[in-house]
Amino acid sequence: MAALRLGDEAPNFIAQTTEGEIDFHNWLGEDWGILFSHPADYTPVCTTELGTVSKYANEFKKRNVKVAALSVDGLESHHGWIKDINETQDTTVNFPIIADEDRKVSELYDMIHPNADSQLTVRSVFVIAPDKKIKLTITYPASTGRNFDELLRVIDSLQLTAYHKVATPANWTSGEDCVIVPSVPNEEIAELFPKGYKEIKPYLRMTPQPNLN
Ligand code: BEZ
Repeated sequence: MAALRLGDEAPNFIAQTTEGEIDFHNWLGEDWGILFSHPADYTPVCTTELGTVSKYANEFKKRNVKVAALSVDGLESHHGWIKDINETQDTTVNFPIIADEDRKVSELYDMIHPNADSQLTVRSVFVIAPDKKIKLTITYPASTGRNFDELLRVIDSLQLTAYHKVATPANWTSGEDCVIVPSVPNEEIAELFPKGYKEIKPYLRMTPQPNLN
């Protein structure tokens, strides 16, 4: 199966998770989604990652994002490991972990990279918009824990583009000026961006972040 690309529809699936069976698209509903895989249960980096994601629950909720994790381990293993995550990371895991023992979802999302490891999923991340289109893919190696602040930053940027017609410049963080997307003609700027804008070049027009007071 060809790798999934930006703009592709996120494939639907039915899977067993630590929070019961889910039909992925129905479970996402109208929300944004993050589907992320990790190599295995009871491993150190993964333990810190899933603990961190649990602690970010409010940040995901604020942005209407549902999160699901996945590995090729089974439900019993997931449930046992969750106890360790809760204990060692001082949290309560609050999102479903998919049990993908038959590798159905891993293969659908190309999460096993055989030249890295023939059996285990790598650290894949998919951000999915409410229309079920894939908006971001990132792949990290097993030995590098992901930066979930960066994921929130990208989701903020994607939502600004989707809802406010702005893009975000290099190293942007929330609160900084944004770039008016090229498809907005100058004649529409006054109405769309009442906070004003600065034209540095005809193709480089900056405006204060639209969704802040
Ligand atoms: C980990 O999750 O800690 C891990 C998994 C595979 C290789 C290295 C680290």
